[in-house]
Amino acid sequence: MPEIIADLLSDTLTRPTPAMREAMARAEVGDDVFGEDPTVRALEERVAGLLGHEAGLFAPSGSMANQLGLRLHVAPGREMVADQQAHVVRAELGAAAAFSGITSRTWPSVRGRLETSGPMSLVTTGVGPYQVETALVVVENTHNFGGGTVQPIETIREVRAATQPRGVAMHLDGARLWNAHVASGVALADYGTAFDTVSVCLSKGLGAPVGSVLVGSADAMAEARIWRKRYGGGMRQVGILAAAGLYALEHHVERLADDHARAARFAAVCAEVAPGTIDPATVETNIVVLDVGAAGLTAAAFVEGTLARGVRTYAVGPAAVRLVWHLDVDDAGTEAAIAAAREVLTAAA
Ligand SMILES: Cc1ncc(COP(=O)(O)O)c(C=O)c1O
Repeated sequence: MPEIIADLLSDTLTRPTPAMREAMARAEVGDDVFGEDPTVRALEERVAGLLGHEAGLFAPSGSMANQLGLRLHVAPGREMVADQQAHVVRAELGAAAAFSGITSRTWPSVRGRLETSGPMSLVTTGVGPYQVETALVVVENTHNFGGGTVQPIETIREVRAATQPRGVAMHLDGARLWNAHVASGVALADYGTAFDTVSVCLSKGLGAPVGSVLVGSADAMAEARIWRKRYGGGMRQVGILAAAGLYALEHHVERLADDHARAARFAAVCAEVAPGTIDPATVETNIVVLDVGAAGLTAAAFVEGTLARGVRTYAVGPAAVRLVWHLDVDDAGTEAAIAAAREVLTAAA
């Protein structure tokens, strides 16, 4: 395999920086199953505060934080509704059904963008014993498989206004909510308070090695704490990991704008050298999805071509390739990616 100059496979690939490792090494710790890890408690409080909620719960992964959130709201046999490309539907391996007995229906969308009509065409309440009752709407912001799409706060609020009086809860999969906040300028608390529960990841663009936080009411988090232990997610001196999260919140949020600018620059060049492969206006955050079919390529051929030039990319469909910018891809890596894409796309033309 050639030496990798820019690894754009995912923003989960980041490695902790030396300063983050130092913060981890210095972390005060205790047994978090007994609620005695001061660094975990500080992280939970900090994230809950940022998102405008009462309490937080540290979880080993975004998937677990989401699954804890879903089960708080949906009793077995009841329903959640979500975008058809949502991570909770496509990439958590049926956990909502397997662990919580949740049934799901999904709405279609363009690039994952939330429209009020999506969830509202599905939400069903007051149907007695004849149909499944909707208990939860799940929104993903930014939308991963949609290509880093930022959800409009006005639409979120519209859905909230329509569902809350009907007793339907809302959960936000905010694995990349930091990217949405930086791209849109909408305060984290404005996003957060539109939902009953929110999960956020520290291990994606923020660069922590592990960790997610679920936030909600104090009662909801107390219940989620019980389920986390049942799921095997009760961890002990885990302040070492929470310290990485606290460091990331302090140092790695605002810099996400650099990732967004690099992704936009890459997309602009692709649009110029291979028209039809991308509309630069669709690149809202750190994710670019190219339609390499428009350049006469298969996704596999593009991935192989860029890899041979030291740039790792990811085939997400027969002709669709995803590239994700993050902490470990700088300007030089971006230029390498641009050069590789230019060569591969123009060779095919
Ligand atoms: C939108 C979204 N939600 C949740 C997750 C799950 O995170 P984890 O891989 O930590 O389980 C991911 C992972 O990429 C994601 O993209």
